[in-house]
Amino acid sequence: MRLTRKNILAIGLAAAALVTTPFAQAQAQGKLKVGLMLPYSGTYAALGNAIENGFRLYVAEQGGKLSGREIEFVKVDDESDPSKATDNVNKLIKRDNVDVIVGPVHSGVAMAMARAAKESGTLLIVPNAGADAVTGAMCAPNIFRSSFSNWQSSFAAGDVVARQGKKKAITITWKYAAGEEMTTAFKEGFEKSGGQVVKQLTLPFPGVEFQALLTDIAAAKPDAVFAFFAGGGAVKFVKDYAAAGLNKSIPLYGPGFLTDGTLEAQGDSAQGIFTTLHYADALNTPRDNAFRLAYAKVYKQQPDVYAVQGYDAGQILAVGLSAVQGDVRKKAEFAAAVEKAIIDSPRGPFTLSKAHNPVQNIYLRKVDGKENKLVSVAAKALNDPARGCRL
Ligand code: PHB
Repeated sequence: MRLTRKNILAIGLAAAALVTTPFAQAQAQGKLKVGLMLPYSGTYAALGNAIENGFRLYVAEQGGKLSGREIEFVKVDDESDPSKATDNVNKLIKRDNVDVIVGPVHSGVAMAMARAAKESGTLLIVPNAGADAVTGAMCAPNIFRSSFSNWQSSFAAGDVVARQGKKKAITITWKYAAGEEMTTAFKEGFEKSGGQVVKQLTLPFPGVEFQALLTDIAAAKPDAVFAFFAGGGAVKFVKDYAAAGLNKSIPLYGPGFLTDGTLEAQGDSAQGIFTTLHYADALNTPRDNAFRLAYAKVYKQQPDVYAVQGYDAGQILAVGLSAVQGDVRKKAEFAAAVEKAIIDSPRGPFTLSKAHNPVQNIYLRKVDGKENKLVSVAAKALNDPARGCRL
């Protein structure tokens, strides 16, 4: 072949086609569509916003792109309503054709989402909802969690309360999967350490008519109360508990959701409450300090556990995407990379279990002023039992 200008151009083009750089691939793939299915109204609205803030902060720190792909957000307010969850998630999957879904907060909504994700194969990263089944019986290669399982948040609290010398406890929560699983896990841990749960009180989600139940507690005089509420409901419960004078006679405990992101509003009523959670204020590690500073600069407020979980959903996505050069269709490679990764979280580094739930430290915290101050590590590298998962 003679080296004419035309031939040189043809050879050049052929060579360029052979060497597809990640950059060229990312351009060909276009924007990455991220469906955010979170509560933007109702008792969990603040949680949804903090998760989105955390996720966006991580993306911004990567220059606004992951694996060379710009991010396009499609948002759905799931209203923490399980009866609307299947329709909502199918809109994201079928109408909007998203590449990945990040959500939800509410365990009942999560079950419907996990079912749809499993059926369609759409990538799902759960940045809060603790429903045990999501990384248990419903676990799947394309479903990951950046947060916790309900069992994990509350099991260690049982031992903590027993060690503080409490013999008889009452649990109180909303009657749905999260509350039921957290109080059951607390009971399991408490009774294993010699305590006894004498009564389990519930009210419908997201109700805040606590008065009759507080009267029951006052009459029963247990040594301790263990409560799961979160968001707006947690603010009201902790305030009502103190207004009834119960905080003076019967110490209140809970998973950390009871006092996370809520202390501004709870004020004096929350002082001294012990909780267990996979995050705490004043961890004082370089990683967490840098995260908190960056978050406060952008959003003019302190981050909470939900912001951390949103941020880490971004990190998990980035690890998987980078292994597949931005091509989310390569699901096995995506999962293999995430399964091997150590996620450098503000909460401390964690790995994902075989069932794709974080294996993480559970901290004991105590409310002091506007902070859930770290007291100790209640359980080191706690793994969820992943009951029923066959991954
Ligand atoms: C849940 O429904 O799984 C849930 C909701 C709010 C929390 C924690 C768990 O703070």
